[in-house]
Amino acid sequence: MSPRRWGPTTTGSCGWRRPSRPRWRSLSRPSRGGPCGRTSESRPTRTPASPAASGRTLFHMDLVNTTLPPDHTTLLCVRPDPLGGGTSILSDARAAVARPPKNSRALLAEMAYHYGTFFDLYGVGKEYKPFPILDGSDPGEGFVRFTGKMLKRSQLGQAYADAARELAAELVRGQVSFMLEPGDHLTVNQHRFLHGREALHSGQETVPVADRRLLLQLFLREGRRRLGRAAGRRHRRPTGSRLPEHAA
Ligand SMILES: [Fe+2]
Repeated sequence: MSPRRWGPTTTGSCGWRRPSRPRWRSLSRPSRGGPCGRTSESRPTRTPASPAASGRTLFHMDLVNTTLPPDHTTLLCVRPDPLGGGTSILSDARAAVARPPKNSRALLAEMAYHYGTFFDLYGVGKEYKPFPILDGSDPGEGFVRFTGKMLKRSQLGQAYADAARELAAELVRGQVSFMLEPGDHLTVNQHRFLHGREALHSGQETVPVADRRLLLQLFLREGRRRLGRAAGRRHRRPTGSRLPEHAA
């Protein structure tokens, strides 16, 4: 299947169609499969096979450790958790970072954070390690580069970890929760919001794989002008480098 641009829609059982006025760029690696066979640039979120993988997904932004994260991450709900768990959560990261004291914000602005690995990715710049959680950019341009997972899995300096924990608490304080139903399509502006989900209901191991919660995910980049500005200002790409055809 050749790479093609697809845009999101909020209706229909397939949930994906070619937009009449293409405005977005998909950043996902093409893959076959999906419930309608047309999800050429979407991917299923992980389907938990064990109770340990069914726990709460802490607030995070997707591809936090890349120099050019997607502007938006989108989720199409194919099936919610049939046992009733998996509530989606969102928090306004810009509001959350305004609440901790100044000294904590100063720590969050240092290049002291890291998380995850970088492989099999394209169209998202280079690995960013270490990175600051706050990059001093105007809202709408930069990101609040936070993932709660780094508090558990990354070795961070104590003061930096404490500042990140403070931010995590503020994110929870400002969170909104909602359940995605089949056909619901959520688009998250990563410049402003962080996302996550509550734990799936216990007993996932008793649910047949074909009936488990299934969301399809697509990463989106805004138009060429926007990408050019961001890349040129902080993460200049080498002359002549370009995004893969389907992402450009
Ligand atoms: Fe995510």
